[in-house]
Amino acid sequence: MNIVRCDSAEQAVRHAAELLRAQVARSPKSVMGWATGGTMARLYQELVTLQQQDPLDWSGVRSFHLDEYIGLAADHPQSYRHFLRHQLMAPLGLQEAHAHWLRGDAPDLEQAGRAYESALAQAGGIDLQLLGIGHNGHIGFNEPGARLDTRTRVVRLSPRTLAANQRFFAPGEVQPQWAITLGIQTILESQQIVLLALGEDKARAVAAMAEEPPSELCPASALQAHPATTLVLDAAAAALLTCKNTERSALPAQLPP
Ligand code: F6R
Repeated sequence: MNIVRCDSAEQAVRHAAELLRAQVARSPKSVMGWATGGTMARLYQELVTLQQQDPLDWSGVRSFHLDEYIGLAADHPQSYRHFLRHQLMAPLGLQEAHAHWLRGDAPDLEQAGRAYESALAQAGGIDLQLLGIGHNGHIGFNEPGARLDTRTRVVRLSPRTLAANQRFFAPGEVQPQWAITLGIQTILESQQIVLLALGEDKARAVAAMAEEPPSELCPASALQAHPATTLVLDAAAAALLTCKNTERSALPAQLPP
């Protein structure tokens, strides 16, 4: 894992945004795997700001996304499809024709999961998967206990995740208890992974992910086995890491004698 520690949340968000832009500048038809949630809302806002300052052509990008609530229609304001269309795709000019969606309102969810995996395989896999992390160490909606060999499937959300995400639902609004998510194995097959974590409430999960022995109790710790994962952290999220390097990156091709 490369670990990029930034002094502030603003710097971390900027750094992650620049990694995404560099990927698209390098490879305009990249297959990107998008995440959602509060951290990603900040990141997408930053991408929109950078886009206004220095336009980049996103129209060739192929989009997949990480997860979706079961039972919400695509145009429900809390559906992740709605989130991504409004906060990311429309403002950056990503094309709907190149987007693949997890249909949490599909009549046959198992079939929807299988169809999604085959669309992903047909696209050649994910070039860059963006992730956040839950307080319990989840990635996507792979909650503690999820096995390493999991693929896209229906999962039950943990009480901790439900409590954390309640803030997005109006009082009295029904909050889905189930979701469909890319599996850990599917995520690990991505060429590159960028995980952004901000704030002291993520510090415990970040330390478990990066520095404790990999365990199903912290699904994000599976990323330790991935050869090209970059964690972008603000100081508060990095506060419990014992490795104090500012960046742990790959060795240069030529080591000095
Ligand atoms: C959402 C997702 C989740 C979030 C995580 C952090 O697509 O996959 O794993 O990234 O729950 O959410 P926030 O940023 O709201 O704390």
